[in-house]
Amino acid sequence: MKRMKCLPPEDPRSFFQQAKVHCAYCNGSYVQSSHTNLGLQIHFSWLFLPFHRMYLHFYERILGSLIQDPTFALPFWNWDHEDGMAIAEMFKDPESPLFDGLRNVYHLPSNKPLDLRWDRVTEDKPFERIRDDNYARVYELMVSGAQRRLEFFGPKYRAGDPPPAGGGGTSERLHNMAHLWTGGHNQQFGEDMGNFYSAGRDPIFYVHHCNVDRLWNVWKTIGGFRFDFDDYDYLNTSFLFYDENSDLIKIKVKDVLDPQALGLEYEDRPIPWRNSRP
Ligand code: C2O
Repeated sequence: MKRMKCLPPEDPRSFFQQAKVHCAYCNGSYVQSSHTNLGLQIHFSWLFLPFHRMYLHFYERILGSLIQDPTFALPFWNWDHEDGMAIAEMFKDPESPLFDGLRNVYHLPSNKPLDLRWDRVTEDKPFERIRDDNYARVYELMVSGAQRRLEFFGPKYRAGDPPPAGGGGTSERLHNMAHLWTGGHNQQFGEDMGNFYSAGRDPIFYVHHCNVDRLWNVWKTIGGFRFDFDDYDYLNTSFLFYDENSDLIKIKVKDVLDPQALGLEYEDRPIPWRNSRP
């Protein structure tokens, strides 16, 4: 991350340009290539999970090449397990490139778990209460309320459709609170994590999204009708990203549905929320 932050700001691999990639795909910078009167938004629809997987993939490749280690892998913020709910210490050292000054200072103590049901006011819920509420919330958004693809991924969104504006699927709703909870409590627009345009400026964004991506894999192991879509338009939806050589690469949704083909692997972790029916 330090090397990424030291790259000249105009380098597409630099920390600042990479954060802008996220901003560009969410904040109205792009239009749909075949429908230039319609905007492009990668949240609130079935594009949410695959787009962010692509983004992480190129981010990881850039980091790996900056340290000449093609095996480098981003870790995940394991907030769905009690041992991983707090912000990891390595992100809190002001001298570290993983630090970001625009975070909610009330949420930095090491015993402070991410509260997936945070009401934006209450700060004194006991740890056990937050943990149990979190497990129930993950259960609801991964198991009972996410039995079908559309529930989990969010609504369909094809070329020619206006950008969706609803809350998205359960996978996205599950991920939202970490953004709001981590973002600066005294920032007008929730910077950094609490806003699309600035979220990529906090290094914690990438480990948060790795957990979201990991939970996509976990969801598919729960059974029932939990499969990826096989819709033609979905599979062929494409995006552009810069790779570790600063080359612009076109990648399609169908290129990222098989985690193994992408070299993606997550450590097996217990999933204590699996039996936490509220
Ligand atoms: Cu594109 Cu967590 O957001």
